[in-house]
Amino acid sequence: MGAQVFKPSANSIAHVTILGIAIVPLTVGLSLAALSRSPANTKVNVPKNQPVPFSHQHHSWELGIDCRYCHGSVEKSGYAGLPSTETCMSCHSQIWTNSPLLEPVRQSYETNTPIKWNLVNKVPDFVYFNHSIHVARGVNCNTCHGPVNDMHITWKGNPFQMAWCLECHRAPERHLTKDPTRPDLSPRQQVFDLYWKLQTYGKTGFKDDGTKALSERELQLLKGEWNGSDKPEDIKSGKELVKELGVQVQQLADCAVCHH
Ligand code: HEC
Ligand code: HEC
Ligand code: HEC
Ligand code: HEC
Ligand code: HEC
Repeated sequence: MGAQVFKPSANSIAHVTILGIAIVPLTVGLSLAALSRSPANTKVNVPKNQPVPFSHQHHSWELGIDCRYCHGSVEKSGYAGLPSTETCMSCHSQIWTNSPLLEPVRQSYETNTPIKWNLVNKVPDFVYFNHSIHVARGVNCNTCHGPVNDMHITWKGNPFQMAWCLECHRAPERHLTKDPTRPDLSPRQQVFDLYWKLQTYGKTGFKDDGTKALSERELQLLKGEWNGSDKPEDIKSGKELVKELGVQVQQLADCAVCHH
């Protein structure tokens, strides 16, 4: 059984755009597709029914399993991907083997049929999205997905409407930050390191000696409340990082970046 990877718009993966190419005329399909936009797609904060009540809170937060163990392609490709049944069975052939909740997982394994997870997040086919570039620039998963690592049943943390994407694309310096306590890590590594920190220091973010181990930003990310910063010192360091990473801010809001 191969890894089960959702590719809702696999055709767009080939179209790696070089930022700044001439704006491609928007097709008629764009507006037609918008008409058929499902209202369910904009629903946030509503847990989605799943064939197995998989809990990120248990697996990610309490057991501390790294996101990449299950979403292996998130830093390498456009798609984060969903775990195969084998990934679940790497543990559940040994633990919780009799749990009725895991019956669909055992069934899937025995019959060689992938579990049909219901996608929580999806942008319309006429929108191009790419995980790896965002992760490489240090945009944390929770910025877009809300407090996933603390969700029992997964829900959608943000509506993913155009205005929401553009809010960051027009001023990425409000969002890009370096972790002053881990200058040795790249922005990409800092995305994942945050979850280790959260696991170590918990929801209040204090060390044993009472000093604060997590910054305000980190705590906001944890709660899914981070929405960029307007503090002059953050904007200043954000701008430095934008420059260092070579982010092409002038072109980032061009239509062709997301529609092509
Ligand atoms: C690294 C080991 C590990 C992996 C991988 C893993 N689990 Fe688990 N899972 C556990 C442990 C340990 C528990 C018990 C957690 C607890 O109750 O605190 C658990 C509990 C569960 C439960 C609750 C069972 C019950 O009866 O309460 C479900 C459902 C579940 N896992 C589904 C999955 C699915 C689906 C996957 C694959 C996407 C998966 N797990 C991957 C270790 C793992
Ligand atoms: C043990 C495996 C496992 C780990 C570890 C894990 N996930 Fe997941 N994740 C899943 C499974 C299974 C699903 C599909 C079911 C669901 O939506 O809950 C999923 C779904 C998601 C979704 C929703 C996908 C959609 O349908 O649109 C997001 C977002 C997500 N995970 C983010 C994360 C992040 C961030 C981390 C690390 C903090 C993480 N996951 C760690 C197994 C895992
Ligand atoms: C800049 C915003 C953003 C960031 C950062 C982000 N995601 Fe996503 N994620 C999305 C969007 C948008 C979709 C829907 C993609 C689609 O429909 O093609 C999505 C979809 C997913 C899915 C569903 C399967 C898939 O590949 O489409 C998973 C799982 C997921 N994200 C996990 C993660 C994890 C883990 C991280 C952090 C390592 C992360 N995401 C970071 C915006 C983001
Ligand atoms: C928190 C900030 C943030 C959010 C939110 C965000 N982006 Fe981005 N996006 C970036 C940054 C930073 C880059 C990297 C630009 C660069 O390095 O030149 C980027 C790059 C991209 C690229 C170019 C990828 C490539 O391979 O050419 C696409 C496409 C994109 N984003 C789509 C989206 C979409 C669609 C959404 C909303 C669902 C979104 N982004 C939300 C910050 C963000
Ligand atoms: C950062 C990514 C991004 C950029 C840049 C962008 N869009 Fe969009 N656009 C989206 C997303 C995401 C949607 C889907 C919104 C939804 O599903 O609610 C969308 C939807 C649309 C729609 C359908 C109607 C609607 O509002 O949902 C049209 C038309 C559109 N975009 C035109 C444009 C034009 C024209 C530009 C350039 C001025 C542009 N877009 C730039 C991400 C982007």
